[in-house]
Amino acid sequence: MRELIKRYVFQVQANDFDNAGAASSTIKRNLKTIAINPSIVRKVAVASYEAEINIIIHSNGGEMVLEIYEDMISIKANDKGPGIQDVDLAMSEGFSTASNAARELGFGAGMGLPNIKKYSDNFKITSNEKGTRLTIDIMIE
Ligand SMILES: Nc1ncnc2c1ncn2[C@@H]1O[C@H](COP(=O)(O)OP(=O)(O)OP(=O)(O)O)[C@@H](O)[C@H]1O
Ligand SMILES: [Mg+2]
Repeated sequence: MRELIKRYVFQVQANDFDNAGAASSTIKRNLKTIAINPSIVRKVAVASYEAEINIIIHSNGGEMVLEIYEDMISIKANDKGPGIQDVDLAMSEGFSTASNAARELGFGAGMGLPNIKKYSDNFKITSNEKGTRLTIDIMIE
């Protein structure tokens, strides 16, 4: 069993554009206080930002959990639904159901989930109408 060093939980509200990126900014700040390669911090920052924005613009709200292990950073993004109808389709580049309001703010390229996967060493997504759950693990070199 790998040893958990620290764990942080952040609440993320649906449609809360004013605080968009707050959780991932705090995650980035926390990682900068420990000795981790900046390229790892950047990967975690991008992946957690995309996961956070997805909770804000596509879900009914949820939470993000940051876990720091000796050899790995793990982020969990869990929301309260409505879920993703077709996860394979959602994972494909360019697919987006973002609202016009979200698109006006620059979201909706359909690149968030593919990029999260790209930056993860281990990525898991499960979804049903009760919620979507992402596990994003990034190894510390
Ligand atoms: N947490 C979620 N809850 C419900 N649907 C989601 C969630 N995350 C993603 N989706 C669905 O998957 C699609 C693809 O997500 P992805 O993050 O790749 O793109 P996007 O958010 O639409 O645009 P971008 O991330 O490029 O701004 C979304 O448009 C949405 O339909
Ligand atoms: Mg997205």
